[in-house]
Amino acid sequence: MILVTGGAGYIGTHAVLALMQSGHDVLVLDNLCNSTRSALDRVASLAGRRPRFVLGDIRNRALLDSVFAQFPIEAVMHFAGLKAVGESVREPLRYYDTNVGGSVNLCQAMAQAGVFRLVFSSSATVYGQSKKMPINEHCALGQPTNPYGQSKLMAEHVMHSVAESDPRWAIGLLRYFNPIGAHASGLLGEAPKSVPNNLLPYLLQVATGQRPSLPVYGTDYPTPDGTAVRDYIHVVDLAGAHLKALDYLMNHTGISVWNVGTGLGYSVLELVHAFEHVSKVKISLSFEPRRPGDIAQCWSDPTRARQQLDWVATRDLNCMLEDAWRWQCRNPEGYVLDTLELKIKL
Ligand code: NAD
Ligand code: WQD
Repeated sequence: MILVTGGAGYIGTHAVLALMQSGHDVLVLDNLCNSTRSALDRVASLAGRRPRFVLGDIRNRALLDSVFAQFPIEAVMHFAGLKAVGESVREPLRYYDTNVGGSVNLCQAMAQAGVFRLVFSSSATVYGQSKKMPINEHCALGQPTNPYGQSKLMAEHVMHSVAESDPRWAIGLLRYFNPIGAHASGLLGEAPKSVPNNLLPYLLQVATGQRPSLPVYGTDYPTPDGTAVRDYIHVVDLAGAHLKALDYLMNHTGISVWNVGTGLGYSVLELVHAFEHVSKVKISLSFEPRRPGDIAQCWSDPTRARQQLDWVATRDLNCMLEDAWRWQCRNPEGYVLDTLELKIKL
């Protein structure tokens, strides 16, 4: 059985489904601070069976110990964490507590239970503004410009030290570039609980008329059209990388690091135009100054994941946008409808 922390969230639900579809038993541990149970109902309807679920917090050591005592867990995928960059500036301690403290707590509970396989959700944010493009895993780690990024870098340091301390550990750090998209069924996707911070969730709400226009932060970057460039990766491809990483950790101890991206960069305006083409919806834009802390460009060299994991991204930008648009049209309020339906049934 695989323990998936944060398995009710955006990326976690896609990973839980992929795990179940490849025959694994899954136990989700999530405190639902940024997700809902109905996301797991949808996973169950797609998988044809239900993942086990424990409502709880990764910072609760007694709970973790009882989970490891109760279930035959072979490995952990650790998605649970807080991810809003702006919020992390306002509430840094909450971010360090959850993302660093929670990860330390989890590693302690794993070691005590004799479970040493761990796949961790890291981020390309740990590179800061890399001087070299594309970014490979040898590139120097930067100075993330916000507590969220710092917390991911600190959690990586913790995991390096842990792996060095005991040869039984097998840890995979997956450095995600910019995950977007949704499950092709239109049943799973990203459901922001408040104003979206990230580009595509905001754009989708403009497209459905929930917001008047999309702010484009910065038009004077040293990029071909002046807007910032990112490597967008389909969330289903990203989930697939987790399965490959898990397989790899069955035969490799120590710590391994992989970039998870397509290797292609698109500017904000390129993404907007590609979306307009896919959806046939015109997006109204407002040009704004650069967002503090943003970097000009960031895209991956995914060679190591291809060579070591036999993983490549297979879904292109159009597919990411088509799937995201299907999700948004069917679920403009996220998973809220399911909750309402449930209340009516009760
Ligand atoms: P998400 O917010 O949708 O999912 C995170 C899940 O963790 C949520 O279900 C939340 O309820 C749960 N959670 C938070 N704190 C918890 C705690 N203390 N105990 C138990 N559960 C808790 O976010 P996501 O986009 O699915 O991201 C998953 C992971 O990937 C995070 O660690 C994030 O930092 C990392 N990551 C995300 C991105 C991105 O752009 N989405 C990029 C790089 C890395
Ligand atoms: C992409 C580009 C914005 C919103 C963040 C985190 C990173 C990782 C992924 C978790 C930027 C521009 C955005 C908008 C815009 N998360 N933009 N209008 O900043 O690359 O990465 O999410 O680990 O750590 O920092 O992603 O989607 O927020 O922004 O013009 O309304 O779109 O300025 O250039 P980012 P993003």
